[in-house]
Amino acid sequence: MTSSSSGDALDIHVVDHPLARAWLTVLRDEVTDNTAFRSALARLSRMLVYEAFADAPVDEVDVQTPVGVAPGVRVRTPPLFVPVLRAGLGMLDAALAVLPDARIGFVGVARDEETAQPVEYLASLPEDLSGQPVYVLDPMLATGGSLLHTLDLLAARGATGMTAVCVVGAPEGIAALRDSDHRVRLVIGAVDDRLNERNFIVPGLGDAGDRQYGPR
Ligand code: PRP
Repeated sequence: MTSSSSGDALDIHVVDHPLARAWLTVLRDEVTDNTAFRSALARLSRMLVYEAFADAPVDEVDVQTPVGVAPGVRVRTPPLFVPVLRAGLGMLDAALAVLPDARIGFVGVARDEETAQPVEYLASLPEDLSGQPVYVLDPMLATGGSLLHTLDLLAARGATGMTAVCVVGAPEGIAALRDSDHRVRLVIGAVDDRLNERNFIVPGLGDAGDRQYGPR
């Protein structure tokens, strides 16, 4: 995992593990069908979430083994996972496989394809998120509008320790995050070249929602 952090409000970790890159390659390939895409996204998401918890605070605990006492740890505070519908839903089961006792909230945002502005259609979140580590799950970070909207919803409920887990992003989306008021950590599979004239990530992987579930 490579990190870039300059003490600013955005802390980026690019997960460049060979297996992560191999699953991302499957996702990028245009011949990968819906079924194989969902499967590859789940496998990659498990790795990304695993890396996202590399610095998670833990409590030291001793456990009795069949032959002695071993020092161990427990994750201090179960996280809140927030998949951004639709595409982020494909990351949720993988995240829960890593941390089964997480809480779950939902945000539904559809990007208007004309304006690229996020249009919210669902916000099902706990009212009080103070002291709650939050992990937003969304495969795509294009303009950053959908993620910033989600971070606004979470910050309005008191969330401070926010991490976004994404598969692929564009420099434009990262710049938008950096220019925002949010203090956020970004764990991501790859940062691509740019956005095209339709605000799709190039080379990217297409539309992660459509590639999992078909066109809206
Ligand atoms: C995609 C993607 C992100 C968003 C990224 O969702 O899953 O949520 O666009 O773009 P942005 O950074 O420019 O906001 P989309 O709106 O296509 O909805 P879907 O997940 O239902 O397909």
